Amino acid sequence: MASDDVRINEIRAFFEGWDLYTTVIEQNYMIHTEVLSYLVRRLTELGWSDLSILEVGCGDAHVVSEMGRFFTIERYCGIELSRMALDFAATKLEGKVQNLELIHGEMVEEIDRIQGKFDLIVAGYTIHHLDEKGKRALFASLKERLYSGGLLVVYDVVHRQEETREEYLDRAVRHFETDWTIFTAEQLKSVRNHVRQNDIPESWEGWRRIAQESGYQKMRFPYYDKNRLFGIMEFLD
Ligand SMILES: C[S@@+](CC[C@H](N)C(=O)[O-])C[C@H]1O[C@@H](n2cnc3c(N)ncnc32)[C@H](O)[C@@H]1O
Repeated sequence: MASDDVRINEIRAFFEGWDLYTTVIEQNYMIHTEVLSYLVRRLTELGWSDLSILEVGCGDAHVVSEMGRFFTIERYCGIELSRMALDFAATKLEGKVQNLELIHGEMVEEIDRIQGKFDLIVAGYTIHHLDEKGKRALFASLKERLYSGGLLVVYDVVHRQEETREEYLDRAVRHFETDWTIFTAEQLKSVRNHVRQNDIPESWEGWRRIAQESGYQKMRFPYYDKNRLFGIMEFLD
């Protein structure tokens, strides 16, 4: 696998052209609809209404901008590598957040510069770019940013317990090639190259162990999609 700097540059370049990922969201190819439903249900169950939210690798902040229809968002801080995605986030969040901070930068570097704590931290399809050590360090820094009783929600790539990284990626790529029918062969090739070069999925047991080693006490795995590729996980301190 490429060095950290090379990988970050490749990830930035892939997401700089945001069109492809907009289509992924619009087609609900990566469970964004289920993530939104889950967050609305869970936060309502917790009785939360006025929220402060930190999102790492926020992209265009699609999910949080939709949450604005259900909750008052007092503070939103999003960190993102892609300038273009962040510009879309600014447009989508306009008028939906009282105190908006959008940070163009690398999440591991930026996280320590953020002031204050948050009720909810969201990380969607971003942490899987880090190796296990990097994931552990990021989980620990995110914990520092959570209020006591706060919630970290990660939706990301989850391989089956018995699967290797390569077996998961083979299965994922086969799924993209058969189900993501809206894309051209060229676009699918770009997705395939991106995931093969950059994605480091974990099993639920793996995600759970990493979170535990980073100091989280409670964790749940409330949703796994029918293809067993993507999952929603929550971690509490
Ligand atoms: C697959 S997209 C997900 C976007 C959004 N979280 C969502 O669920 O729709 C991953 C995003 O994370 C960003 N990203 C990846 N690594 C990052 C890093 N180290 N620091 C900041 N952003 C990062 C990418 O630029 C991209 O916008």
